[in-house]
Amino acid sequence: MNYAIITGASRGLGASAAQRFISDGIPVITVSRNENSTLKHAAESAGISYTHYRCDLSSPQQVQSVFAQICDDIFQHAENVYVINNAGVIEPIDVAGELDASLVQTNVQVNLTAPILISNLFLQKAKGTGTRVIIANVTSGAGERPIQGWSIYCSTKAAVNMFTMTAGLELENNGSSSKIIAFSPGLMDTDMQVTIRSSSEEAFADVDTFRNYKESGNLRSPDTVAGALVNLVLAENLVNGKIYKVNDLL
Ligand SMILES: NC(=O)c1ccc[n+]([C@@H]2O[C@H](COP(=O)([O-])OP(=O)(O)OC[C@H]3O[C@@H](n4cnc5c(N)ncnc54)[C@H](OP(=O)(O)O)[C@@H]3O)[C@@H](O)[C@H]2O)c1
Repeated sequence: MNYAIITGASRGLGASAAQRFISDGIPVITVSRNENSTLKHAAESAGISYTHYRCDLSSPQQVQSVFAQICDDIFQHAENVYVINNAGVIEPIDVAGELDASLVQTNVQVNLTAPILISNLFLQKAKGTGTRVIIANVTSGAGERPIQGWSIYCSTKAAVNMFTMTAGLELENNGSSSKIIAFSPGLMDTDMQVTIRSSSEEAFADVDTFRNYKESGNLRSPDTVAGALVNLVLAENLVNGKIYKVNDLL
């Protein structure tokens, strides 16, 4: 049996990816603070197993306990486990020296600590079993260049890239059948972009550029991007540790 576990599937890219797994007949487990009832109904209509776990990914304790339970539920019968570490936050948007300390901590925990803890747990559970774990960490082009006002988001995505490259190297050197990759989804028309457009110019120098992206129709639909992401993780020829970019896949 195969399973897809998707964090942050209550909306945006995660919701679209979960919908695509359901359409492909793959049982889905979603993890976020809110549940997406459309996904629940879609799974019911399609006769596909669907479970939602409520979890605040900014709490390492909740991450450990919720994902330990998910592993207990699935590992006995799992052949392939697709883990999509998608949940993310952009805030705090502000220049260094003006950052809100609590938002800094939340960003690091949701964007970086949670994907590391989740990847670590699944790779540990897969050892010595016949289960193959395929992990996709959703990253951003912001992890590869500095953007004024996004120091924390740029830093956490850069660290996700380095974690993915290093864990991918380790899996390759160990001859593991499991894979870990990063996926850069490009600009998408989601709530994260709404948050970006609502920034002040003092906090985010490029805010007008991002307002123009929306006005000129330059944001991709999350359904289109999710199609590329799910096709990628279902493919047999994934390269461990690689950072895949949506523009190269569509
Ligand atoms: N949108 C873009 O243009 C863009 C560009 C590059 C990269 N990305 C990346 O793509 C991924 C998806 O982004 P998106 O645009 O779809 O974002 P979004 O629409 O803002 O959705 C974010 C998701 O993350 C979840 N989340 C946030 N904080 C959480 C927490 N504390 N605990 C649990 N879940 C939490 C939310 O669920 P709940 O609120 O229900 O908990 C929601 O489902 C992110 O990793 C983002 O960095 C986006």
